[in-house]
Amino acid sequence: MTFSRRQILVGLAGLGVVGLGVGGARYWLGRPQDMARHDYELIAAPLDVELVAGHKTPAWAYGGQAPGLELRARQGERLRVRFINHLEVPTTIHWHGIRLPLAMDGVPYVSQLPVLPGEYFDYDFIVHDAGSFWYHPHTASAEQLGRGLVGPLIVEEREPSGFQHERTLSLKSWHVDKQGAFTDFSVPREAARGGTPGVLSTVNGEHAPTLELPAGQIVRLRILNLDNTLTYRLNLSGGEARIYALDGNPVVPRPLGKDYWLGPGMRIDLALKVPAAGEQLSLRNGPLRLATLASVASGETAGSWPAALPANPIAEPDLQRAETLRFNFEWAGALSQNIEQGGAYSFWQVNGQAWDINDKTCADRPIATLKKNGHYIFELRNLSQYQHPIHLHGMTFKVISSNRRQIEPWYTDTYLLGKNETARIALVADNPGVWMFHCHVIDHMETGLMAAIEVV
Ligand code: C2O
Ligand code: CU
Ligand code: CU
Repeated sequence: MTFSRRQILVGLAGLGVVGLGVGGARYWLGRPQDMARHDYELIAAPLDVELVAGHKTPAWAYGGQAPGLELRARQGERLRVRFINHLEVPTTIHWHGIRLPLAMDGVPYVSQLPVLPGEYFDYDFIVHDAGSFWYHPHTASAEQLGRGLVGPLIVEEREPSGFQHERTLSLKSWHVDKQGAFTDFSVPREAARGGTPGVLSTVNGEHAPTLELPAGQIVRLRILNLDNTLTYRLNLSGGEARIYALDGNPVVPRPLGKDYWLGPGMRIDLALKVPAAGEQLSLRNGPLRLATLASVASGETAGSWPAALPANPIAEPDLQRAETLRFNFEWAGALSQNIEQGGAYSFWQVNGQAWDINDKTCADRPIATLKKNGHYIFELRNLSQYQHPIHLHGMTFKVISSNRRQIEPWYTDTYLLGKNETARIALVADNPGVWMFHCHVIDHMETGLMAAIEVV
């Protein structure tokens, strides 16, 4: 594949610089001056943030915030983002969950060349599906996502959805110590187990914030797990909440229930009936409070539950004629010999193969080749004692069965495969390209749990 050229910045003149941040000369752009050519100019650059009171954390930010600026687009329209790299390292942007052409997928040496410091790259694609998505680099991911390069991408429905109010809640647990300094994003002994967890939980970059919501109204909460490692066990005890969408795709609305397990990369859209003014609810991860939802008086008449969201235009796999492919996810044992030669650790394998993140040619050896427009069932077997949020780029799949639980089929881009679980997912291979297929626990992905699936 030949890559479209990255452009070198000639300087910041003419880019619509809007200001200098504190803690160094940083240039943050929102809407560009030249709206005819792109919808956003998005800068990645270092930014000191205050996660721990009185201390600075040297984060990396998109658009002047970490988690990054919320990008919005409307279903069926183009999204054009001029991405500008003011970091000192090469990077890319991957659009998680978006079905787009390979050249826009942000995987280095597969979709594009890395965007070097001082360069920009124009991302431009149509968003076919409405829902809650997100964006992040696909280079040195443990560090880059760990330092804050994660952000929401919201695609609004073509027609008004019936929700009058909404909030985006980006969940991230930071790898910082008590002084706000970063700790290791990936520790080998943790990567070989459940992944390296952060210790400071935040919602929209703030630890245990209080979010004010209008009393009596129905609010759409878009909850995004942008964390490297953690599966959140979400609950909102005492609240009246219904699930409207999972990972960007609508479901028949149903009560939230007592715990929803939201793995890394996954999203859930809830409708919450905000209680009477003065009351509070806690959004929790298991027993731990993530945020307080405080009801404040609202002049509006009480809201009512919106209808289910319209389905996205995803091709329906025909299970009768689908071909079944099997993928085993397993622990690969001891430290690899690669280490002495400067290679990556490999603790994990997909069908007996481990992806080496330092090897630019891995994508040349796809683990499976699908025929364009063919129908497929993937049988995913987890042979390990840890759960793996299995994510596929480029196509959305339907979850059809599991040996561990009752499945009400739904469409997603990430399936949280439990310990020793075998699950079946199905898809129509309607997007040609070489697509990453990996665990979204970042240090699992970086220590072998990644493969490429080719559609030709
Ligand atoms: Cu969020 Cu390779 O993906
Ligand atoms: Cu992705
Ligand atoms: Cu994993």
